[in-house]
Order: sequence, then structure tokens, then C-alpha cells
Amino acid sequence: MANAISSDTSRSAARGKHFLSDKVEHFTESVIREMTRQAMLYGAVNLAQGFPDFGAPEEIKQAARAAIERDVNQYAITWGAKTLRNAIARQMGVWQGIAVDPEKEITVCCGSTEAMISTLLAVCNAGDDVVIFEPFYENYGPDSVLSGARPRFVKLRPPAQGNGEWTFEEKELRQAFDKHTKAIILNTPNNPTGKVFTRTELELIRDLCVEFDVLAITDEIYEHILYDGTKHISIATLEGMRERTVTINGMSKTYSVTGWRVGWAVAPEKITNAIRKVHDFLTVGAPAPLQEAGAAALSLPAEYYAGVAENYRVRRDHLIPALETAGFKCFRPRGAYYVMTDISSFRFAGDVQFVNYLVKEIGVAAVPGSSFYRDPPDGAQQVRFAFCKKLETLDAAAQKLEKLRLRT
Ligand SMILES: Cc1ncc(COP(=O)(O)O)c(C=O)c1O
Repeated sequence: MANAISSDTSRSAARGKHFLSDKVEHFTESVIREMTRQAMLYGAVNLAQGFPDFGAPEEIKQAARAAIERDVNQYAITWGAKTLRNAIARQMGVWQGIAVDPEKEITVCCGSTEAMISTLLAVCNAGDDVVIFEPFYENYGPDSVLSGARPRFVKLRPPAQGNGEWTFEEKELRQAFDKHTKAIILNTPNNPTGKVFTRTELELIRDLCVEFDVLAITDEIYEHILYDGTKHISIATLEGMRERTVTINGMSKTYSVTGWRVGWAVAPEKITNAIRKVHDFLTVGAPAPLQEAGAAALSLPAEYYAGVAENYRVRRDHLIPALETAGFKCFRPRGAYYVMTDISSFRFAGDVQFVNYLVKEIGVAAVPGSSFYRDPPDGAQQVRFAFCKKLETLDAAAQKLEKLRLRT
């Protein structure tokens, strides 16, 4: 276990390597999903994978049941049920002031995961570069490799004080752009850091995209999960970006339905046509009745979204003191529902040993920091916790983490 884009080929060489695509040699299974399996194996509290352990809103469960009752049980239109596309277009207008044509610019996919890989497959040629900020959500590395592109990483640096902001260096970002750059993948609010990109930072990225004729692929799945008065800005709203942006979002996080697998990509017509072709042959379509429930979800009132953010703020402020008491240095997230921590006070050789100890001996599952970096040593003193859990679950974790304090 290191990270999802290690290139250790020695083990697979012995195991019928000639049957396998060269591409799969360049990444491993997801470390995040592996940690969930470990949590189950050891009966640990799972603060590893980002899925809620509480229920979804009653209205949308009811809408899903009603759709199945109405026999919405066959393939939807491949690029998405009209009701859901209309709702997405309407809400992009309400939330971000972006005008979207639901007939020509939206592709509904099996989660934003599929929206991302379908987009990359639709836009990348072999030899293209894709710029990715690191630490990164682990899918982006393998997604780039699968689409034939070469990921180029730009560092987000942690704040000196836990309460500060993760930042990147303008010079380093500029150096990552050249004639081979096809796209930049942006994720704001960010997993794993909780960073919410500011307008100034987005303008800097915009200027480079325009100068080098690069596409922005922006994963905005945590759009509504914001703290401390931060505002989410969609890069597509910046002048010059609408025609060069693919905006990805989905139901998983906003409506606590990560298992439903409904997400979408919004892009100009030409790019959408390409994404739709890839999506059709990859999956045909997202679950039809759950798309109908998606239309109902996107019709929830504004208070719903304020409630989501506030409930996660309470959970963040519940978990961070417990982690700090146990000896972690926490980087306070401004958005999303993870807290990245520094584990150096525990004096472990590395994050992987640390999370193994944590899951087996302490009874809490977390994700090793190295899984978010190209070079595992960069994350060797970091560990990520998810707080999209019931307060009882966070309390149970806090109680177990007290045993750690004795070690520091
Ligand atoms: C940044 C980011 N993008 C995408 C996903 C997956 O989203 P979906 O369930 O819509 O595929 C996650 C899940 O943790 C995530 O953190």
C-alpha cells in the first residue's frame, strides 16, 4: 500500500504480466477503499472513506421509491433523464449564475467518478499532460493514466499554523504549463486538504489556461460544504473560462447518497458531444429511478443546503479537538468533510505503519497521507480523517484515540 499511482512492476511481473494492459501497471487499487475493507476486518470506526453513516433526506428517498413504483426502471436517455438535466441547468443558474443548455451541455454519468474519467477519455490524446494539484483526490492520477495522459503535479503546501491556508506557488504552477498541457484538474472545495480556492487563485489559473489554450476540468462535488464564511467560486464563471471548462458535480456528497452513483459533467456543446460518446459506451447511463430522485433533490429549498454546511461544521468542530487532544496537528478545512493532519508527534516511521497501527490496535481507520501524493515520502507524516459521520461515531473514535495520547 503506497499510493494509487505507484509504478512498482516487479510483483506483477511474476503474475502473468503479459495478459495485462501496460496502463494498469502504473497504479494500484484505491488505498481509500482498501482502508474501508480494513475497518470492516478489524471492526474499527471508519473515518477513512468519505461516505456518511447517516440517512439521506426523506424527500429524495420517497422520490426514488415513487420512481420505481411508476416503473421508471428502464434505460434513461443515455446522457441523462430530461427532468434531471433541467434541474441541473436551473440550479447552476441559481447557485453560480451560469446559463446552461440542458439539451446540449449536460451529461449525467454514474457518479462524478465516471464524469471525470469520461471527460479525460474524451479530451486526452497519448502524450498530453494534465496538471493536478497535490495532495490530490486519488482517482485523478489513474484517470489520467487510463486516458493516455501524463499527470504533472503542482504542490499545495500546508500552512505553518493549522488555522492557515494551503497555498501553491505561482512560479511552480506556470512551470507545469507548456505546449503539451491539455487540461488542469481542479477540485474546490478540496479533498483532502479542505482548501477552497480563492478568486485570486482561480484568476491565476484562468490566465494560464487562456495563455496556453488549456481546458479546466473542475470537480465541485463539495460545492455546498463550506465553513467560516468561505464562498465557492466556479471557475466557469470567470471571464474567458466558460468555453474551456468542464464542471463536474454529483449527488453523492450534497445529498448523502454516495451509493446511488449519479453525477454529471457540464461543458460546451462540442466537448459534451465527445463526453456523451465515451459515457454511452462505458456505462450507457446512470440508474434511471435515481435520476428522477436527483431531480427532486435539486428542488430542495435553499435552507437544505445551509443545513448541510452547518451540520458538517458541527462535526468538524467536534472531531478536531479530539484529534488535537490525541496529539495530531490538524489543518483546519474551509470546505469538504475531511481533516488532513500532521502525525509527526507520534514518531512513527511513516503514515502507512501509523494507519495500520491505528486500525488494528486503536480501532480507528484513516487514510495514509502518501495516497494523496505522487511521491509517497511527501505524505509520510500526514493522515486524513473523514468527519461525515454521526456524532456518536465521532465520539466512539475520540474515545479510542485517547489510547494514542499515552504514546506521544
Ligand atoms: C473530490 C472527489 N471527487 C469525486 C468523488 C466521488 O464522487 P462520486 O460518488 O460522485 O463518484 C469523491 C469521493 O470521495 C471526491 O472526494
